[in-house]
Amino acid sequence: MSLQTQIPILDLQPQIQAHWDEFNAAFQRVMRSGQFILGPEEKAFEQECATYLGVKHAIGLNSGTDALYIALRALGIGPGDEVITTPFTFFATAEAISHVGATPVFVDIEEDSFNLNPGLIEAAITARTKAIIPVHLFGRPCDMGRILAIAEKHGLKIVEDCAQSFGATWNGKQTGSMGAFGCFSFFPTKNLSAFGDGGMLTTDDETLAAEARMLRAHGSRKKYHNEAVGYNSRLDELHAAMLRVKLPHIDEWNTQRRAVAQGYHDQLSSNPSLVLPKIVDGHVFHQFTVRVKAGRRDEVQAALAQAGIGTMVYYPLPIHHLKLYLESHAATRCPVAEQAAKEVLSLPIWPEMDKSFVIDRLKSSMAISCL
Ligand SMILES: Cc1ncc(COP(=O)(O)O)c(C=O)c1O
Repeated sequence: MSLQTQIPILDLQPQIQAHWDEFNAAFQRVMRSGQFILGPEEKAFEQECATYLGVKHAIGLNSGTDALYIALRALGIGPGDEVITTPFTFFATAEAISHVGATPVFVDIEEDSFNLNPGLIEAAITARTKAIIPVHLFGRPCDMGRILAIAEKHGLKIVEDCAQSFGATWNGKQTGSMGAFGCFSFFPTKNLSAFGDGGMLTTDDETLAAEARMLRAHGSRKKYHNEAVGYNSRLDELHAAMLRVKLPHIDEWNTQRRAVAQGYHDQLSSNPSLVLPKIVDGHVFHQFTVRVKAGRRDEVQAALAQAGIGTMVYYPLPIHHLKLYLESHAATRCPVAEQAAKEVLSLPIWPEMDKSFVIDRLKSSMAISCL
């Protein structure tokens, strides 16, 4: 990378180039097979994911968003029900709850992990609460021990949103293997990503798995014998074949992401204006998201853009402040999430990133050196 190089927040090309021949071979295999939907690649990928994640069933879908909808539908959650989740997430988490006709109830996050604060969940439980959706945000596993204990005590279902956490572990267990369902996304920016949209549901429960498979195929277990209004949500053969090339490398790529995170820590942790994300066990650093203190986030982001360094604000608004929910959630107070939305800035991270080059450029940019 030269001094003139623009540094993106994510670069997928090294991964694509490194496995070019394998992707081509997978592509040709599917083209020659003539089978594009629910064929051998999808079946094999489901099996390989189930083995990797340590679950009995993995069900390939169109997207992570569909995984969330279908999980809630399969659990029988609908109008009149409440589902507790975090306001500091991508909209799809709350959208799925609203989509099935239930009400999202937003509980504030922890200051340092950006994840749902287990200490605040019980106060939000009512007679209508049916489930909790913890989101392993930015690849950091939630405090599942406490969340699972609360769910068990109150008879609630857990649906893990693992869109950003493929390969992350809590206490040695894979995210997506602890709740009734795990919901994964293979959107191109994710740690394990397709060449387009894709998603997956995981579960250990045979009946729930059958229900989810029924819902993904227009509500039919047997072709043309539709029993529910479902979805058209299958993981295409081409995506499955490409994902099968990538899956064996996910641990190595996640380890490389952690090394990038360590590089940021080594170089930036003494800066008093930045709060860096902790490198806890099992964190897979989908994002490296810092807090910029003293109201200077937007200024820093603009200056980094001037220096050719790509960054993103995930997320500029907590979900309860979106126009859609402003009226219905006027009484919701999540001060930690509201503050985070003003301070967060995600820095470049991808497995093969030349961390010394990027961090040097970052440190020498006016934005960071003047903080
Ligand atoms: C936390 C979270 N949940 C759900 C989703 C939805 O996944 P998808 O884009 O595959 O529908 C995403 C991805 O963007 C996400 O980041």
